[in-house]
Amino acid sequence: MTVTRSVVLGCGSYLPEQILTNAELATRLDTSDEWIVQRTGIRQRHIAAAGEFTSHLGTKAALAALAHAGVDAQSIDLIILATSTPDNTFPATAVAIQNALGIHHGAAFDLQAVCSGFVFALATADNFLRTGAFKRALVIGAETFSRILDWNDRTTCVLFGDGAGAVVLEARQEAGELADRGVLTTHLRSDGRHKSKLYVDGGPSSTQTVGHLRMEGREVFKHAVGMITDVIVDAFNATGTSAADIDWFVPHQANKRIIDASAHKLHIAPEKVVLTVDRHGNTSAASIPLALCTAVTDGRIETGDLVLLEAMGGGFTWGSALLRW
Ligand code: UT7
Repeated sequence: MTVTRSVVLGCGSYLPEQILTNAELATRLDTSDEWIVQRTGIRQRHIAAAGEFTSHLGTKAALAALAHAGVDAQSIDLIILATSTPDNTFPATAVAIQNALGIHHGAAFDLQAVCSGFVFALATADNFLRTGAFKRALVIGAETFSRILDWNDRTTCVLFGDGAGAVVLEARQEAGELADRGVLTTHLRSDGRHKSKLYVDGGPSSTQTVGHLRMEGREVFKHAVGMITDVIVDAFNATGTSAADIDWFVPHQANKRIIDASAHKLHIAPEKVVLTVDRHGNTSAASIPLALCTAVTDGRIETGDLVLLEAMGGGFTWGSALLRW
C-alpha cells in the first residue's frame, strides 16, 4: 500500500551582506571574541541592511529554493513562513512573500514557534500535504532578530543574527517504508510554564510596542539538552531507527555547546553534525534551513540520506523531524 509523503525537491537560503564579527561587538560592549566563541561557538553573524525586511530575506531564500528544485512558483499552493520578526503585526509576512513571488492562489500564512518555528512549519506543511489539501509547499524560515535585540545587553545581543532558508516540499506516493524519500516523522512539543525565560518584552496587545528580546540564558541552557534529546528519541521510536542510522544531524543553531552535548548524549558521531552557528549565529526559525542548505550546497547531504532535524526555543517549544532527502 502506498502512502503520501512530503518529499523535499530543493532548498535555498539567503544571508544579508553585512557581517558583524565578535571583534566589532567587543569595541561597543564589555565582551570579547574569546568569551563568545568559548560559550557559544559563534564568531560572526549577518545583519539585515536598513530597509531590508524579513519578507525580502524570505523571498530571496524562496526564489533560491524554487530554482534549486527546478519548479515554477506558480506550482506552489501552500506557503508557510516561520518567523518571530514579521514585517508588520499583520498581515502575515508570508502573504508579502507570496505576492513577491507572483502567486495569487492557494494559501500563505505565518507560524510562530520562535526558534522551533521551522520544525513546526515543516510538520504543519507535511500534515497538509499528506491529507491531500495541498500539493506543493514552500516552507520558509526567515528572521531579522537584529531588530528586536537590545544592543546594550551583552547577554543576548551577541547571540543572534539575520537570515532566511526555505525548502520546497511535494506530495508524492511512496512505498510506506523507512526507505521512502520525504518526511518520515515529526514530533512537536510546547510548555508555557517556561514562557518568561525567553520572550520579547513588548507586543501589540500588551504594550503597543515591538519590544526587545529577553532571555534567562542559563535557564534555557539547563532545559535544552533534555528537551532536544527527548523529542529525538520520540523520532527514533516512531521509526525504529537509532543514531547509527542517521546520515546527518541538522540541529537548530543556538549554541555549539548545546549541539555537542545533545549529539554526545544521543551517540551521534560528531562528523555527522552540521554546524553553522560559528558563521550565522542564532537565526531562530531560519537556522535549520540555512544549515540544511549549507550541507546540500557543499555536497554533504545527498538524495537518499537520512536527515534528523531538531529545535528548541521560546515558549518553550521544541520538536524533531526525521526525513529522507
Ligand atoms: O535559540 C533559542 C534557545 N536559546 C538558547 O539555546 C540559549 C541558551 N543559553 C546559552 O546559550 C547560554 O546560557 C549563554 C551563551 C546565553 C550564556 O552562557 P553561560 O555559560 O550560561 O553564561 P552565564 O549566563 O552563566 O554567564 C556567565 C558570566 C556572567 O558573569 P558573572 O555573573 O559570572 O560575573 C555574565 O554576566 O558571563 C557574563 N556574560 C558575558 N561576558 C562577556 C554574559 N554575557 C557575556 C558576554 N561577554 N557577551
